[in-house]
Amino acid sequence: MSLVLDPAAQDLLFREARTANTFTDEPVTDEQVQAIYDLVKYGPTAFNQTPLRITLVRSAEARERLVQHMAEGNQAKTSTAPLVAILSADNEFHEELPTLFPAFPQAKDLFFSERPAREGAAALNAALQAAYFIIGVRAAGLAAGPMTGVDLEGVRKEFLDDDHTPLMVVNIGRPGEGAWYPRSPRLAYDEVVTTV
Ligand SMILES: Cc1cc2nc3c(=O)[nH]c(=O)nc-3n(C[C@H](O)[C@H](O)[C@H](O)COP(=O)(O)O)c2cc1C
Repeated sequence: MSLVLDPAAQDLLFREARTANTFTDEPVTDEQVQAIYDLVKYGPTAFNQTPLRITLVRSAEARERLVQHMAEGNQAKTSTAPLVAILSADNEFHEELPTLFPAFPQAKDLFFSERPAREGAAALNAALQAAYFIIGVRAAGLAAGPMTGVDLEGVRKEFLDDDHTPLMVVNIGRPGEGAWYPRSPRLAYDEVVTTV
């Protein structure tokens, strides 16, 4: 009763949404990815940095190069998912800040002139956006399989550059046969929330 979101949407996004480990071969289109992005781009980030960058791995040749960097247990699902995305943090996000945060354009030079400050902010805020992205995939009626079981440095060298820090690889598609591991328990409210 406390939530205003339609219960069916609550189920779609959270209660019945699962991390998929197998997929059907139904394609995931660029239009679907664009609809997902155009929804989740509104998720909040500090100073509206929006440092998440998304690399769609579509060609068979690129997929093969990516699979080589995946942990063994992640290779089969990364080979067979209809779409795989590399999510990374843009450490040079500050270049866009005067446009993205017009309320305080000085933020670029005041807070983000040094690379270590940018890397910390980019890692945190791109990780937030990665979470929004996963929820967006679910909002499209698809399932996501996020993975950090991957040689991220290898992925950086293979697909990105020094200005981008890969965070995770995400398989995307409709769940296939035996897609789910058993649902793991979650911590209860009282175990997580304290009030001071
Ligand atoms: C950041 C992140 C990294 C993950 N890395 C892997 C991975 O490398 N391999 C894997 O099989 N599952 C991976 N998972 C899947 C989690 O184990 C799974 O989302 C979690 O157990 C919840 O499962 P459920 O959505 O089915 O309840 C990852 C999930 C997240 C969010």
